[in-house]
Amino acid sequence: MTANPELLNQLTIPLLEWFRDNQRILPWRSDPTPYHVWVSEIMLQQTRVAAVLDYYRRFMSTLPTVTDLAQVDEDRLLKLWQGLGYYNRARNLQKAARQIADQYGGQFPDSYDQILTLAGVGEYTAGAIASIAFGLPEPAVDGNVLRVVSRVTGDASDIARADTKKMVRKRLADIIPLRNPGDFNQALMELGALACLPNGAPTCDRCPAASFCVAHNENKTNQLPVKGAKKPRVTEKRTVYLIFYRGSVALRRRPALGLLAGLWEFPNEPTDSSTAETWAVSVNSRESCGVGHHIFTHREWHMTGEVWQADSAQLPEGWVWANGPALRDKYPIPNAFSPFLPAVDQHISHF
Ligand code: ADE
Repeated sequence: MTANPELLNQLTIPLLEWFRDNQRILPWRSDPTPYHVWVSEIMLQQTRVAAVLDYYRRFMSTLPTVTDLAQVDEDRLLKLWQGLGYYNRARNLQKAARQIADQYGGQFPDSYDQILTLAGVGEYTAGAIASIAFGLPEPAVDGNVLRVVSRVTGDASDIARADTKKMVRKRLADIIPLRNPGDFNQALMELGALACLPNGAPTCDRCPAASFCVAHNENKTNQLPVKGAKKPRVTEKRTVYLIFYRGSVALRRRPALGLLAGLWEFPNEPTDSSTAETWAVSVNSRESCGVGHHIFTHREWHMTGEVWQADSAQLPEGWVWANGPALRDKYPIPNAFSPFLPAVDQHISHF
């Protein structure tokens, strides 16, 4: 394969034309304020556009300004985020909103380097905000952009490597148009999302770069991009305890650090552990109830449910009883536990 970075020079004009005619209408595009762009870009990390739309609308109607975000109660924020996953994104949003309030008088910082100092904002997100909201010529290199650039230029560098990302950023910084850098960045992402698709499924007949794309012309779209092997996931067997008393279910808060930090959960332990036997809960029946399976980035849970009927309200320190409305409106529960929600629904009071 003949890699040719110069080919990127040919991309700009057809790409911008294609974007003008093919871009999706998205709520954050109609009014690209820094706040709108920032929140949408954070939601879109690791999450598809279709899954983000309703969350974005609800978030903006509940927290329309940076100040609202800085001040909202953390559980309310996590509740707005419930189901999106990667909850540190939400906590960092609030941390950054407080930085903006404290360090910038509530005004969103307007330089790339300042934006990069905000919690949870890396080079990609800083580039997206700087270009889309402030019109600054900063590249925004995400997985879609890496795929498009690798294929167009025929570059077999490993896109999982930081130095590859740096090189692509540098190449794009050389060609990003000064007049509409935000459209250029979004057009690259949009091309990756709509035509230059991963996993051997690109629709090159819809691509404005097909005539000069190395991967297309050499029939190598299934070999590019090159992506280094991921770490294998650890599999864990866990028992999830659904403990009921008078129409409520027991919840506990997860530790402040680590996986699903600070969210609420049905108590659960490794299946080979005997911790559950030591809990201060008095129980008059136990039965098993179904299984569940959840895949995290570096971990996989194979869960077995157990229903316990308690005969007193006593719970270990810090645990709470939640009825239906509290479960729905108050406590943020991670998606991992959704296989058990039908069973919980059968046992709790909905009023
Ligand atoms: N994915 C993440 N951000 C995006 C954006 N602004 N446009 C298109 N796809 C995206």
